[in-house]
Amino acid sequence: MIKKLTVKQFRIFNEKSIQLFPGINILLGKNGVGKTSLLEAIYYMNFTKSFKAPTDVDMIQIGRDYFQIQTEWNQAKYVHAQGNFLKQKGKRFIFDEETMTRMSDVIGSFPMVFLSPEDFRVTSGPGVERRIYFDRFISQISRQYLQNMINYRKLLKNRNAYLKHLAELKQYHYTGQLEVYDRQLSPIMFRIVSARRELIDLFNTHLEKIYASIFSGDITARINYKPSLTAEIETDFQITHIEQTQKNIDKEIILRRTLWGPNYDKYTFYRNDIPLIHYASQGEHKMWMVLLKLAEGDIIRSIQGEEPIYLFDDLFAELDINNSRHIIKKVMRKKQTLITTTDLNDLRRHGIDTKKENIHIIEIF
Ligand SMILES: Nc1ncnc2c1ncn2[C@@H]1O[C@H](COP(=O)(O)OP(=O)(O)O)[C@@H](O)[C@H]1O
Ligand SMILES: [Mg+2]
Repeated sequence: MIKKLTVKQFRIFNEKSIQLFPGINILLGKNGVGKTSLLEAIYYMNFTKSFKAPTDVDMIQIGRDYFQIQTEWNQAKYVHAQGNFLKQKGKRFIFDEETMTRMSDVIGSFPMVFLSPEDFRVTSGPGVERRIYFDRFISQISRQYLQNMINYRKLLKNRNAYLKHLAELKQYHYTGQLEVYDRQLSPIMFRIVSARRELIDLFNTHLEKIYASIFSGDITARINYKPSLTAEIETDFQITHIEQTQKNIDKEIILRRTLWGPNYDKYTFYRNDIPLIHYASQGEHKMWMVLLKLAEGDIIRSIQGEEPIYLFDDLFAELDINNSRHIIKKVMRKKQTLITTTDLNDLRRHGIDTKKENIHIIEIF
């Protein structure tokens, strides 16, 4: 659990410190006071980047040249965690006096589930949004997966550069060098696809439980994962992969990019066996996303044995009142949740009894 957050020269804040408690923490304040930024700072400590800013520089208070985030934790891997970003020098994380040299050691240190209004893209945007979403999630729980993705991207970049080179030479046939790339890519792609398939199975198991407990069978949710290349075992995967590639190599060279592999995998969300993307209302999209986040938390707990913290930015926006009561009931049982809102009455309408002892109102101004 997070006990304390201090930010310096971060977004709108010159310096700001808040105490946080077990149970539900309501960050209350008018639009633009910096509620989302505070969640963004906590997110940064686990993901080493923002969920929305394209570069870390955007988070530095305008006119300054660095920001600092300090956090204090309870029952976590580290007690004191500090993140610094300097315009010229880049980022540095210090966890309990230890300077973290690799970002992959930082990622996943403080298990958390984060919901943002921008997540609307995950359910309603193009396929790449869902790939990014699941990649980020699996990377948080599996360092191996993160490493596979890093290697995959590196190889792909080199392979694409080589395709470009072949295009410039007007050579449209499979070469020995391509085979070298493909033999390296195949096992990595196989591991990525296998990890994704396993994860989606897990999501479906947890989603089913969550939906059954709320809707008792009236509403169902399911994720379908369709890899662009598939095989049960690694050797078959490699054969399929190299065959596909050889058959279509002229296309790849003309387009100057690799056309097969995990970058083309597809995830489809189904609500009551109907693709969410085409038919769901805004409220249904939001509900789907919130319950997906609760499933995330259940998966983290089942794999890491640790209860994550839940950060819900603008949880109630677009959420139907009836649905939010079910969600609140579930959220009440979590160890620690942070919810931002502009309006206490809105909270009460959505079923939060602000007088309960495990509900803490933290005013931001
Ligand atoms: N790098 C920055 N430096 C200074 N102010 C910033 C920076 N980035 C954003 N802001 C300001 O922070 C405010 C938005 O903060 P935000 O966390 O989105 O507020 P809230 O979630 O409470 O509505 C805006 O007023 C914006 O202009
Ligand atoms: Mg906000």
